[in-house]
Amino acid sequence: MVDDQNRRIPIAVVVWALAALAVVAGVSALLIHQQRRTENRGAEYLSESPAAGSAVFRKKGCVNCHQVNGVGASTGSDLAHYGSAEHSLPQLVTAMWNHAPRMWEQMQERHLPYPSMEDREIAQIFTYIYMSRHVALPGDPASGHTLFEEKGCVHCHAVAGAGGAVGPDLARIPEAVSGMQWMSALWNHSSAMQSKMTEMGVAWPKFAGQDIDDIYAYVRQNASPATIVHDPNPDPENGWGLFQSKGCMSCHGIKDEGGQVGSSLGPNGDLPATFSKLGELMVTAAPAMTEEMRKEGMQPPHLTAQDMTDIFAFLYSLRYVEPSGSAAVGQSVFSWRGCNRCHGSSAQGSSRGPALRGRGEHYTSMGLASSFWRHGAKMYDRTEGPRTERASLLESDVGDLIAFLNSPVQPNKNSR
Ligand code: HEC
Ligand code: HEC
Ligand code: HEC
Ligand code: HEC
Repeated sequence: MVDDQNRRIPIAVVVWALAALAVVAGVSALLIHQQRRTENRGAEYLSESPAAGSAVFRKKGCVNCHQVNGVGASTGSDLAHYGSAEHSLPQLVTAMWNHAPRMWEQMQERHLPYPSMEDREIAQIFTYIYMSRHVALPGDPASGHTLFEEKGCVHCHAVAGAGGAVGPDLARIPEAVSGMQWMSALWNHSSAMQSKMTEMGVAWPKFAGQDIDDIYAYVRQNASPATIVHDPNPDPENGWGLFQSKGCMSCHGIKDEGGQVGSSLGPNGDLPATFSKLGELMVTAAPAMTEEMRKEGMQPPHLTAQDMTDIFAFLYSLRYVEPSGSAAVGQSVFSWRGCNRCHGSSAQGSSRGPALRGRGEHYTSMGLASSFWRHGAKMYDRTEGPRTERASLLESDVGDLIAFLNSPVQPNKNSR
């Protein structure tokens, strides 16, 4: 049966899948490489655990002014939602350059010390903010209650006693403890649920927006409060393995040329901003998918919450490569944004700022954002003239700037 499926995968897809693996491997290699290179300085980017970042976020007092996914004070912006997930890497960089001065001013006004952080702690915080962007927005239990009736769940399910008894009471199922567990329960029971629906003449519900999150919020509100479990930590590499072993690959190309049974899930297609919205699309498509699977003689794969998280993280990781750019354009951007005034036109350094190129430093978005955090206050203080004239960085600058900062230093006869 496995051979059968393999034969159906067009060569182009296999080739592309290998390329994707290379991308994932490349990204991991870059991260591991970076981790090794910077181990002496104790800095690790993206490889950090979001949980550690959450702890630092509290410890350093960021929670006094910021929320992340609704947790914390609301003086500053909610850091998980100040922009779209797709642009989050370059955006972290521009946010640290453009908005951070207002933050430092607020800290001064409130006589709070500028939080000093190790590189590693900064990386942890950024990983935490970055990952939080794919977490669901907290659902709305009132809307969930309405949807529970509108979508017909109430015919078969109760929530804490009130409702039908064809299926289990949803407030009492063991999976009502985290968003991803809830999502995987919906997926794993979709076939059985579907047969029951056919029997009872009920149509499979279509979910849109954040319907499933809202229904979950309603269920959650009525479930026993003691057991709240965090969603599993994503592991994209494991997700790539699962994407193949669970058979997703045999119907979903990860590149448009696939010519597949299901839609392409590769980097050229749109994915919604959060894991749970992607899960929602998948659950909505469950009847169509199981029908195709039956045609192929395949059982719908059982997916744990961890499996689903890893597969989704893999799909999203294909979209989160570092922004690319041109070193030549980057050099112009470096002047247009006034970096040259302190760091020199080739970033060779001057009396007002250190050299940035030719020091064996490998810049990444995370690294640049982290530099702006560490050195930004000083850079801002040294700005001459009216601060309102300080140039803003655009998201589209980031790839070019990084390419420029990483370009080898050319021996130049004209420079000193
Ligand atoms: C005294 C209050 C205060 C504290 C403490 C604080 N911030 Fe801020 N932060 C702000 C304000 C105000 C802004 C500016 C928002 C704007 O310009 O719209 C900001 C902006 C930011 C931004 C850019 C977000 C955006 O809207 O683009 C990031 C990222 C950030 N802070 C991270 C942190 C981190 C990490 C910590 C803890 C180490 C922290 N902040 C501590 C008040 C604070
Ligand atoms: C026609 C009846 C029917 C309708 C309508 C229905 N379900 Fe179900 N549901 C079932 C049955 C039966 C099961 C148990 C399936 C099994 O044993 O695998 C189930 C299982 C589930 C599970 C997994 C429970 C577990 O044990 O982990 C969840 C979650 C769930 N349903 C949510 C919903 C939601 C949300 C709706 C509305 C959008 C809904 N169901 C509509 C009949 C229904
Ligand atoms: C036998 C073929 C088949 C297999 C295997 C399969 N899918 Fe699908 N999948 C489909 C089809 C067909 C659709 C589109 C249904 C529709 O358009 O309503 C779909 C839709 C989806 C969607 C919604 C995408 C969208 O654009 O609406 C997601 C997400 C998804 N599948 C993920 C997966 C994952 C993850 C796996 C592996 C665990 C998987 N699929 C396995 C056939 C398959
Ligand atoms: C007003 C002068 C000034 C301007 C303008 C300026 N910088 Fe800086 N920059 C500095 C100084 C001074 C330091 C070192 C600060 C310190 O030691 O904390 C620094 C440090 C840095 C670092 C960290 C270097 C290291 O040692 O790790 C980076 C990266 C950087 N700047 C990039 C930029 C970029 C990109 C721009 C333009 C968007 C820019 N700077 C604009 C003065 C400036």
